[in-house]
Amino acid sequence: MQIFIDTADVREIREAAALGVLDGVTTNPTLVAAVGRPMREVLSEICEIVPGPVSGEVLATTYEGMLAEALELAKIAPNIVVKIPLIRDGLRVVKVLTSEGIKTNVTLCFSPIQAMLAAKAGATYISPFVGRLDDVGHEGMDVVAQIVEIYNNYAFETQVLVASVRSPTHVLQALRMGADVATIPLKVIDQLIKHPLTDVGLARFIADAAKIPKAT
Ligand code: G3P
Repeated sequence: MQIFIDTADVREIREAAALGVLDGVTTNPTLVAAVGRPMREVLSEICEIVPGPVSGEVLATTYEGMLAEALELAKIAPNIVVKIPLIRDGLRVVKVLTSEGIKTNVTLCFSPIQAMLAAKAGATYISPFVGRLDDVGHEGMDVVAQIVEIYNNYAFETQVLVASVRSPTHVLQALRMGADVATIPLKVIDQLIKHPLTDVGLARFIADAAKIPKAT
């Protein structure tokens, strides 16, 4: 499974890239607003840091508006993936972008049926938002399991990108379900690394190492 980081903060992206486990980046309008920088400027910098796929989202919601923005975003760098919301005109835009060879990430997916439509339109990635489903009392990861099943049944090539990840449990479940990608905030990436027994074990090794006699 590929690991993407879900942020527009270049400091966080550099930190995650330095770990050697980062395959790509996803952003959204909320994340870009949080860093207070123009969309094009920040995406351009991210594409220089990470050679893998970097998702940047359109802000328009009309067919013409989304298509025009998508074509501009795609010019930023060869590794840009255009994020399109899962709405009627969004599916139309995905179809056109796919035929032009532009990669797409269909976002704001909350059901397996929506995911099926995105795959038929030719999306490169589908982003089910698992944390937000959990927030309203649904099992977000059940939706991912159903998408993986449907995509396998019909050999859809769209990659399942688990988004709105809130915990290491989401990541473990995504791995076990065979999701293609999880996009993870830096805080959760840090949680993946940590284990209390690792900390206890290391503290004991350090304490014992101090007792090793020095060579004379
Ligand atoms: O980037 C899309 C998604 O990962 C957003 O997550 O935490 O705002 O639900 P969240």
